[in-house]
Amino acid sequence: MRDLAAADAAELRQVEDQCMAVARAFGFEEIRLPLVESEELFSRGIGVGTDIVSKEMYAFDDRRGKRLALRPEGTAGCARACIERGLLHNQTQRLWYSGPMFRYERPQQGRYRQHDQFGAEIFGVAGAEADAELIQMTAAIWEALGIGHAVRLEINAIGSGASRAAYLEALVAYLSPYESELDGDSRARLRMNPLRILDSKVASTQRILEEAPNLADYLDATEREQFHSLRELLDALGLSYRVNPRLVRGFDYYTHTVVEWTTEGIGAQDAVGGGGRYDGLIELLGGRPTPAAGFAMGMDRVALLRQAVTEGSPYRSTDVYVVMQDGKHVPEAMAAAQALRVRVPGLRVRLHAGGGGLSAQFRRADRSGADWAMIVGEAEIAENRVSLKWLREDRPQAFASIEEAAAMIRDAQTDGR
Ligand code: HAM
Repeated sequence: MRDLAAADAAELRQVEDQCMAVARAFGFEEIRLPLVESEELFSRGIGVGTDIVSKEMYAFDDRRGKRLALRPEGTAGCARACIERGLLHNQTQRLWYSGPMFRYERPQQGRYRQHDQFGAEIFGVAGAEADAELIQMTAAIWEALGIGHAVRLEINAIGSGASRAAYLEALVAYLSPYESELDGDSRARLRMNPLRILDSKVASTQRILEEAPNLADYLDATEREQFHSLRELLDALGLSYRVNPRLVRGFDYYTHTVVEWTTEGIGAQDAVGGGGRYDGLIELLGGRPTPAAGFAMGMDRVALLRQAVTEGSPYRSTDVYVVMQDGKHVPEAMAAAQALRVRVPGLRVRLHAGGGGLSAQFRRADRSGADWAMIVGEAEIAENRVSLKWLREDRPQAFASIEEAAAMIRDAQTDGR
């Protein structure tokens, strides 16, 4: 679990801000969920045979012996909350959430035991337009972040109920004679979670899978139609994708459609987002049957990708650095700084601390990355003015009222500085 400070935290915050802005533009509302839920919510919702539940969960007893877990993902908690609050009766919900998730995985670049996800869920819409809109929204987020060209979309139809059961039977029947040749994980999955064998990365297992029965052949007419509608919608929207017949994802709750966004830009942990439809989850958790679909992205990975592919201007935390003649005049400098903040919304104004001479303060101002130094000294105070010095441009220093200084800064900002 990492600490993120300054530039790294700012990078994650920018990703989150863009996600929120796009979700709002798509008419999604926020839901804030607890980080801790009953362990059973996840074991039932995600499935006891999944890696997430069987190997990666931070589960513990509370003081009264109730079994709890740090959330490994947001969908199960979101569904629980909607059921408990009665948000699903005769209404649709479009919700987003953002925050830390916990998985006891082996840490490496892009994979952390605490990571941040941004997720969105649609409840109450059975048609493929919900799946398509979630994909459209995710694509809009990638564009807003400037990484649209660096991610690829894969989709698959994995059936549900009877079709899935028939397929699993055929898959297990096909794989069982090869049991001793499968890799260790896949051998364990043969009993626990055979569908997951399909996305094994082990070459020898992949070779065995070449002749395996095809999931697509087991889908019923409605499931085929549903997948066809989604593809038509994506084509009409000009959203490119690849159908990956091996894509299954690591959660039992998925039905019909699964999607995953990957990249080549950040190393081995190449999935930046994923999701799908989960029409059975609400009923499984005790609610009335409600169709649902959603996705979540890993904001840490998205931030890494963004650093890798966009040049971006170097990180700066300050726009205006306020310096004080002789290190004195603190109250006047504080008042001037605040007057400037009020007049230029969003401007980052930082007061020098720790005294010292003007040249030492200017060095600090330069190092802060600020575009301007605002000087408060005796002459300025006597005339109720400030001096504004351009730190990155060859322009004369201005002796100006706060209003004039604010106007100069606003002008420079609208000129694209
Ligand atoms: P997920 O694919 O497990 O899906 O996680 C979503 C994203 O979170 C992944 O694509 C990845 O970018 C990121 N992520 C996952 N684990 C880690 C980790 N250990 N370190 C860093 N990033 C990570 C879900 O969690 C589903 N709840 C998505 C969903 C929402 N399906 C329907 N609605």
